[in-house]
Amino acid sequence: MKVSIFGASGGTGSLLIERCLAAGYDVTVLLRTPATFAFRDRARVVEGNVFDAAAVRQTVEGADVVLSALGARSLKKEDVLERGVPLIVDAMRETGVRRIIALGSAGALDDSLKKQPAWRRFIVQNIVYNTLLKHAVASQVSQWKTLSASGLDWTMVMPPMLANSPARGVYRVDGEALPRNGSRISRTDVADFMMLQIGNPQWVGRGVYIAW
Ligand SMILES: NC(=O)c1ccc[n+]([C@@H]2O[C@H](COP(=O)([O-])OP(=O)(O)OC[C@H]3O[C@@H](n4cnc5c(N)ncnc54)[C@H](OP(=O)(O)O)[C@@H]3O)[C@@H](O)[C@H]2O)c1
Repeated sequence: MKVSIFGASGGTGSLLIERCLAAGYDVTVLLRTPATFAFRDRARVVEGNVFDAAAVRQTVEGADVVLSALGARSLKKEDVLERGVPLIVDAMRETGVRRIIALGSAGALDDSLKKQPAWRRFIVQNIVYNTLLKHAVASQVSQWKTLSASGLDWTMVMPPMLANSPARGVYRVDGEALPRNGSRISRTDVADFMMLQIGNPQWVGRGVYIAW
């Protein structure tokens, strides 16, 4: 299995590459700073930025599946997903790669909070999504639009807040909205779920919410 990973140096992305290597997959990653990347000797490394179409194309070419855990490193407006995901989609189309599993967020869609109690919906929408995380949410809305219009075999995995804790192996998934009172999940559980999607047709062409 040939897997291309975007965001492999990040919190969730490094868990994805660890799992891919453990599974014996042939991995290609796009990295801005390969020198500090712990897995650099065990993967094919393309040095570059996701804003560079040629580097993105080099990263996806020949892949059976693309995994993305890309995202801005700050809460400021960086437009990583706004500019990067369209380039990934274009490169996949041009090189005939069909499957992408992307890490998104529960804030990507308007009705994501419809299963939450009213008080929680109010706080998350007004204090978190509309203020603190407004750029991150805008990026995820953009990623959603790009993937859903891509014609590719895409899945967007949409968690609430990510924690750096061990996997519980037990979590709720929902194709309609964030599970009720779902406020957190670990990056380890998210990475395990994303890996399971490589061979699972259930969420192709869809978003899927995941929370403890
Ligand atoms: N944090 C949360 O609670 C939370 C909740 C729900 C969803 N999410 C979403 O989950 C995703 C991943 O989050 P995370 O915290 O695991 O990731 P992270 O640790 O912030 O890592 C982000 C990754 O994206 C890469 N990246 C950023 N800009 C890039 C560029 N211009 N070109 C190439 N690579 C670039 C980073 O590379 P460098 O190492 O070079 O910086 C890094 O590998 C994000 O989209 C985030 O919005 C986060």
